[in-house]
Amino acid sequence: MAKRVSPKLAGPLMPVPARWRDEVERILITDRQLAHRIYEMAGEIERDFAGHEMVVVSLLNGTVMFLGDLIRHLCLPLRLDFMGVSSYGAGTESGDLVFTKELRLDVAGRDVLLVDDILDTGKTLSRVIPKLQALRPRRMKVCVLLDKPARRVEKVSADYVGFTIPDVFVVGYGLDYAEKYRNLPFVGVLKPEMYGKTAEKPATRLVKKLKPVQ
Ligand code: PRP
Repeated sequence: MAKRVSPKLAGPLMPVPARWRDEVERILITDRQLAHRIYEMAGEIERDFAGHEMVVVSLLNGTVMFLGDLIRHLCLPLRLDFMGVSSYGAGTESGDLVFTKELRLDVAGRDVLLVDDILDTGKTLSRVIPKLQALRPRRMKVCVLLDKPARRVEKVSADYVGFTIPDVFVVGYGLDYAEKYRNLPFVGVLKPEMYGKTAEKPATRLVKKLKPVQ
């Protein structure tokens, strides 16, 4: 089992950049903390996966920054694939899931590293893990940047956790609210008054028009 470390989160001294100050309450994890922890995580993963060809399966869309930073530190032969999965739910609640993109690579007999940005209620991973297990990988480990155990409703955990966070609504570094804020270089806490500004995620509306992949 990989060592689980939850480094200290950012203190009150790290100011939110002026551009985001109206929307973001505070910085929870700075870009430097992210970089340092992800480098450590890559070391743990490298040790565990050494000697085997791995397939990294990343869940769209929130993993975009984490994935890029993680795999550049993995000095292992790996192949990369994506699964599209999104919740119907609007705003800050996790709703029903739809799969919008299936894997292209064959993971049978391979070592799989499943990457997600946040483990929240656990609804996403509790659907994705059995779906991947059914493809008969040699073994599978789960890696998340953020773990928010206070909101868990499904019995699911990750093998590699970047940061365990409190029950606050986080955005940035790939994580969105209504598809915004993914480009912030830090993980920040969204001001509660921002939640009501968009009644429904724009992308959720798009997903509803798509035929979900079974
Ligand atoms: C987010 C996030 C995780 C999931 C975690 O995905 O990327 O995959 O929610 O929540 P859960 O543990 O409560 O299921 P979302 O459906 O918002 O899509 P996104 O990655 O495109 O933001």
